[in-house]
Amino acid sequence: MKLAVPKETTSGETRVAATPESVKKFKGLGLDIVVETGAGKAARITDADYIAAGATIAPDAKSALDGADIVLKVRGPRGAETAALKKGAVVAALLAPHSEKAEIQALAAQGVIAFAMEFLPRISRAQAMDVLSSQANLAGYKAVIDAAATFGRAMPMMMTAAGTIAPARVLVMGVGVAGLQAIATAKRLGAIVSATDVRPATKEQVESLGGTFVAVMDEEFKNAQTAGGYAKEMSPEYQAKQAALIAETIKKQDIIITTALIPGRKAPVLVSEEMIKTMKPGSVIVDLAAEAGGNTPLTKSNEVVEVHGVTIMGYTNLPGRLAVDSSSLYARNLFNFVSLIVDKKSGLMAIDWNDEIIKGAALTKDGETIHPAVKG
Ligand code: NAI
Repeated sequence: MKLAVPKETTSGETRVAATPESVKKFKGLGLDIVVETGAGKAARITDADYIAAGATIAPDAKSALDGADIVLKVRGPRGAETAALKKGAVVAALLAPHSEKAEIQALAAQGVIAFAMEFLPRISRAQAMDVLSSQANLAGYKAVIDAAATFGRAMPMMMTAAGTIAPARVLVMGVGVAGLQAIATAKRLGAIVSATDVRPATKEQVESLGGTFVAVMDEEFKNAQTAGGYAKEMSPEYQAKQAALIAETIKKQDIIITTALIPGRKAPVLVSEEMIKTMKPGSVIVDLAAEAGGNTPLTKSNEVVEVHGVTIMGYTNLPGRLAVDSSSLYARNLFNFVSLIVDKKSGLMAIDWNDEIIKGAALTKDGETIHPAVKG
């Protein structure tokens, strides 16, 4: 079977869906790998690196995709790319099912089997394929590094002959995978870290990383987690109580990293303009929820703005700012996923449609949308 890795077409997307390491492993599964020329450039992988790993290089997307049985991408295919897909081919990528409905309909119409990597169930068997975790972890790290680089002061306390420098105070809002890594990174840099989340399970996690947990811990808070481990949307009453507590905390912060997301919904506003006005000039907010509307009303998607003396960073692709590592982990995630759908003995496609991983991630099949989140 032919596995194709076209070059990403989305502007600013620096990641690539396969690395020389994953190419070698795919060869081990008996697949022929074709990579479009330049696909790895922004992730520091040359065509020669792919060739050395056993891939062949195609001069353009059309020839890379021609006759491919499996297509791996970071972002979902669109337009001419979709039109070049073979009927019955498998596509695995970050398909953004909640926002890219038309593109997913087009994939269905093309007759391909499309897997949205962000829809893999969060079960232990799928952990090695969990792209949300592998990318969010790097995003949480990079958010703190970006904040530290912009902040005009040092992060740790420093006692010098010239006097003492106070440590920075960092608040992490939303303690999922990204938030936990942000806490760990800020701690390692020597900051005083606190964190908040609506899921009760996070209190212990924050404390185990040496952070202070800040939240209104009422009855609603105790039940604010779905069976799948995600946050529920909180009532307006809870949000008001929580906002009052957070407002007091925010005044004392130098850096805020916001990561609060609710799958398929607009991100909750956690830091209002009034709160931003109370922050010290030179403070920094990194808003990891920028792509879903932002956790502050002043966040501008993909921009760095300064408002009321506070720098607000709204990068939507923080993993892409660490393209080498994010590609390496993403490629491993995809390899683990593809291993699940290719028979190791025959090297042929063997999709178990009763597997909950397959059912969770499959969006289209036989010309139709099959997932409840995208059904037409
Ligand atoms: P996410 O990216 O969906 O959300 C980030 C964080 O924002 C979450 O912790 C969420 O509770 C929080 N949040 C939402 N609304 C908020 C509000 N109003 N105020 C404050 N915080 C708010 O989360 P992520 O990183 O995808 O993790 C989701 C869950 O999945 C977690 O329970 C995580 O531990 C679990 N997980 C399980 C894995 C597994 O294989 N078993 C792997 C990875 C994550």
